[in-house]
Amino acid sequence: MTVNTLTQIFFSPTGTTRQILSAIGQGINADEIIGYDLTPPEKRDNFQLALDQEDGLVLLGVPVYEEHVPDLIWDALNRIEANGQLIILIAVYGNIGFGLCLKELETWAKRVGFNVIAAGAFIGEHSFSHKGLPLAEGRPDMEDMRSAREFGMSVLAKIQHDIPLNPDIPGYLPPMSYILPKNSPKFFAHYAEADMKKCTRCNRCIFICPSGAIDPGTLEIDHSKCLHCFACVRVCAPSARQIRLKLKPLVKSALSLQTRNRKSPEIFI
Ligand SMILES: Cc1cc2nc3c(=O)[nH]c(=O)nc-3n(C[C@H](O)[C@H](O)[C@H](O)COP(=O)(O)O)c2cc1C
Repeated sequence: MTVNTLTQIFFSPTGTTRQILSAIGQGINADEIIGYDLTPPEKRDNFQLALDQEDGLVLLGVPVYEEHVPDLIWDALNRIEANGQLIILIAVYGNIGFGLCLKELETWAKRVGFNVIAAGAFIGEHSFSHKGLPLAEGRPDMEDMRSAREFGMSVLAKIQHDIPLNPDIPGYLPPMSYILPKNSPKFFAHYAEADMKKCTRCNRCIFICPSGAIDPGTLEIDHSKCLHCFACVRVCAPSARQIRLKLKPLVKSALSLQTRNRKSPEIFI
């Protein structure tokens, strides 16, 4: 038995979640893939999805933000209607931890009418990673992509052999997250304002910003919207936007301590 249609839904400002989903998709090897990218604000705002019986399998992936599902995608996710479709839940995190993210997705998935068939936590380069502070640099790498493909193949085997649903999905908040205030990334790094002496006005930062935080005229960042995902830094060829840490030595050592040991993907199936 094969999967006719795989519906991929993802939010991925810096592209690592998208990469993992595509490798899992290769492992599942569906006849047809339908993709919904919830990263651009206008796509998220207009997103509505009522699944019907032909939409056999759904693959949902999000990055972990502060040990949770990113707040700004809940509205879009809550506009999905399912009636018994199978769903695979994926969290991609920057080698610190995936916290409650998968557990939150599981609760949501059951509430809107999915049957959870599998879940996985994979590692992507941390949004704060840069030359001066590499954090899970280059991930997902070839090994991660192979694990993701193999995971897709295991899910396919599970579908073919009718193995019971509802895998045991963990959720855990480390003590640190009870201490840190909400939106803590803004305490760790400055907003990546553009250096207009270097900026070539290519405008790529405006279009890549997942929260529509960059003013198209002045290129200034609306601080109330910025997520600190630094997608704008990654697309800036002349490095007019950069990651600059606050309290550099302290933040640097805290982050490198937390990401020192290479974590491996974890699958729940
Ligand atoms: C606001 C914010 C909070 C984050 N919180 C965590 C976290 O709690 N644990 C972790 O390991 N990585 C964390 N990260 C890193 C991202 O989960 C990681 O870089 C992920 O690969 C980004 O996915 P994307 O490339 O699909 O955007 C955070 C990143 C941002 C921007």
